[in-house]
Amino acid sequence: MSDDVQHALHEAIPLLAPVTDIPRVEAEILLGHLLGVNRAMLIAHPERTIPPDKLAAFHNLVRQRAEGCPLPYLTGRAEFYGLEFHVTPDVLIPRPETETLMDLALAARPRSVVDVGTGSGCIAVALAVHLPQATVYAIDISPAALAVAQENVERHGVADRVILMVGDVLGPRPGPVDLVVSNPPYIPTGECGSLPLSVREYEPCLALDGGPDGLTIIRRLLAQAPAVLRPGGKLLIEIGAEQGEDAVNLARTFYPKATVRVHPDLAGRDRVLEVQT
Ligand SMILES: C[S@@+](CC[C@H](N)C(=O)[O-])C[C@H]1O[C@@H](n2cnc3c(N)ncnc32)[C@H](O)[C@@H]1O
Repeated sequence: MSDDVQHALHEAIPLLAPVTDIPRVEAEILLGHLLGVNRAMLIAHPERTIPPDKLAAFHNLVRQRAEGCPLPYLTGRAEFYGLEFHVTPDVLIPRPETETLMDLALAARPRSVVDVGTGSGCIAVALAVHLPQATVYAIDISPAALAVAQENVERHGVADRVILMVGDVLGPRPGPVDLVVSNPPYIPTGECGSLPLSVREYEPCLALDGGPDGLTIIRRLLAQAPAVLRPGGKLLIEIGAEQGEDAVNLARTFYPKATVRVHPDLAGRDRVLEVQT
């Protein structure tokens, strides 16, 4: 690759085009990440010379991206609910559809929350930032994911109100709380192999695989939640677009007296199971 910005970008774009609709933007993000400058700076100074070590590193990142590695794992950054989060391959990359769960959680105005399967901590941290009075317990079975969450909790200055716990579903028994939220693994095991390569080869299987029908963790969450919820408490659980009916039926068997409904995401697909006890 040539050693100025314009030529380096020009050569990277066709390599990235097969894996993204925005190859120029992604090339600029990767180069900007390595040079410690924003995209506007690159666009303003296309003649800038790139030092050989940075050029070699850019070449390496472009190759990894062209092989399918998601951009956030290469830059270590992802945005969720208007906040920037550190991410590594130990955590799921936060998804825009999870913002529906966030909207519903904030609307409930809880003073205490538990987030099950916190991963990068994106939900727990965003809740703590937007609810300055709230205490948030954040559980994950993966210590490696919790190390990433710890970094995000500190980055956003909410370490005094987000309590990280390693554990299996609600095993650590935090609370009692007003709200249980979760974006659990919910892909049926048999469908994990058909996920896009950038997901199945790079994102943690532990964050995706929801067991034979995709509902294994959701079933366990519904069963365990009464032990941590205050009377009148609420559950908000992200589900797959095809799981609405099964999730509602499941919730009604565990909570026959509760108000149970499913909320769509912005694309109109079933996305969040709500159980108002
Ligand atoms: C779909 S990811 C969600 C991550 C993050 N909350 C988000 O919305 O981006 C699911 C998370 O659940 C965790 N997990 C999987 N099985 C679990 C279990 N039995 N108990 C607690 N956490 C679990 C995974 O490690 C992963 O971080």
